[in-house]
Amino acid sequence: MTEVAKLELDGKTYEFPVIEGSEGEKAIDIRKLRGTTGYITLDNGYMNTGSCQSGITFLNGEEGILRYRGYPIEQLAEKSNFMEVTYLLNFGELPTAQQLSDFNEEVGHYASLPGGICNMLSHMPPAAHPMGVVSSVTSSLCAFYPEYLKMPLPPEMRRKAVCQLMAQVKIIAANFYRRTVEEKTHRSNPKLGFAADFLNMMFASESYKVDPEVASALDTLLILHADHEQNCSTSAVRLIGSSEANIFATVAGGIDALWGQLHGGANQKVLEMLEQIQNAGGTAKQFIEKAKDKNDSFRLMGFGHRVYKNFDPRATIIKKACDTILKKLDVHDPLLDIALELEEAARSDSYFVERNLYPNVDFYSGLIYKALGIPTNFFTVMFVLGRLPGWLGQWKEMREDDTLKISRPRQIYTGPNTRDYVAVNKR
Ligand code: ACO
Repeated sequence: MTEVAKLELDGKTYEFPVIEGSEGEKAIDIRKLRGTTGYITLDNGYMNTGSCQSGITFLNGEEGILRYRGYPIEQLAEKSNFMEVTYLLNFGELPTAQQLSDFNEEVGHYASLPGGICNMLSHMPPAAHPMGVVSSVTSSLCAFYPEYLKMPLPPEMRRKAVCQLMAQVKIIAANFYRRTVEEKTHRSNPKLGFAADFLNMMFASESYKVDPEVASALDTLLILHADHEQNCSTSAVRLIGSSEANIFATVAGGIDALWGQLHGGANQKVLEMLEQIQNAGGTAKQFIEKAKDKNDSFRLMGFGHRVYKNFDPRATIIKKACDTILKKLDVHDPLLDIALELEEAARSDSYFVERNLYPNVDFYSGLIYKALGIPTNFFTVMFVLGRLPGWLGQWKEMREDDTLKISRPRQIYTGPNTRDYVAVNKR
C-alpha cells in the first residue's frame, strides 16, 4: 500500500500522498492542501519545503554527501574538469570525447562580447563592486540577443543559452577586472580551457603566464561550486525563470541573490574577517567569544550551513587544495594560520559543536583566490563562474518540466482589517 500522511483539521481527516526520492528522501505531497482544506502551510525560510523534484544534485547534510547526477563530488573534483561537469549538470550524462569537443566548440562561438556591452563595461566606475557590474551587464545581454525574448524557448535555444552564458559571463568578469586595473582587455581563447582562459584574460602580461597547475586547481574549485540543489540563488533562478523571464535576467537574479553575505558573499567577508583579526592583533579565541555573544552582530563568516550539519564535503577538499596551492606558489599567508586557529578553536567550543557549525565552502576558498592574485571584492564573482552551470542546468530542467507552474508562494496576512479611508491630504 502506498504510504499516506493523515491530517486532522476541524474534526475531519485528510490524506496526503507520501512521495520518495531516489535516495529515500520522503516528502508529504501537499499540492492539494489548500484546495481540499482551505489551509496553507507556513514555513519561514523554507526550512521544510521542497520546491521541486530534481534529478541534478543529491545532498545529504547529515552525512556530508554531495553528488552531481549520482557522481560523488570527491571523484569529480579529482578526475573530471569544469566543462565536463557543466555538460553533466545540463545534459544529464558525462559527455563522450566527441560530445565534449562539440560542446566546447559551441561555447567557443561566443568568445567575444557585443560592442555595446564592451562600451557599458568601459563606462562603469572602476571602483564599483564587481558583483553589481557583472549582474547588470549580464542582464543587459538580452538587449543584444532579442531572439531569447520569445518564450517558451525551443530546446536548441536552451542549449545555445547554456553555451553563450558559459562563455560570456566569464568575459564580462575578466573585462571588468581589466577596467579596475586600467589595463586593456585580453581576448578570450576558449581553447585554453575555462580556468586557464579566465586567468589569461585577467592577468596575461610579459611577466605572467598561466601555470597549468594553478589553472587546474582553479578548475577544481569551480567544480566544487558548480551546483548545490535548491540554495538561495538557485531558488531565485527557478523563481524568476518560472515567470518565463528571459535567461539573462534570470541568471542576473541568481547573481544578485548570491551576492549576499549569508550566501556566496561570505567568501569576501571571510577574508575581511581574517584581516580584521590580524589588524586587531586579537586571538582566534577572542573572536570566537564575539561570535557567540548574542548582543554582538559579529558572526564567524564561512561557518555554518543551512543544510550541512556535520561537515561540508567541499570544505574538506578546498582546505587540502588551499594547502597545496599556497605551497606550490610559495605563499606564506599569515591569514591561513589565523583561519586554522579559528577552525580549531571553534571545533572544540561547545557553542559551535552543539549548533553543528563547521567551516563551509567559503572558509578557505578566499585564501586560494587571494594567492591567485584575485582581489577580495572579486571573490564572489569567482563563485558566480562556478555556480553558472548549476543555475543553467536547474533552469533548463525546470523549463523542460511539463508540470511547471509559476512560483507564487502565499502568505498569512497580519495587517489591519478593512477600514474606511478618511481624507487628510488634498487630492
Ligand atoms: N557564527 C556564529 N553563530 C552562528 C553562525 C556563525 N557563522 N551560524 C549560525 N550561528 C548560530 C545562530 O546564531 C543560531 O544560534 P541560536 O540557535 O542560539 O539562535 C544557530 O547557530 C542557528 O543558526 P541560523 O542562522 O538559524 O541557521 P541558518 O540555517 O538559518 O543559517 C547560515 C545558515 C546563514 C549559513 C549561517 O550559518 C551563517 O550566517 N553563516 C555565516 C555566513 C556564511 O558563511 N554563509 C555561507 C554559507 S555557504 C553558501 O551559501 C555558499
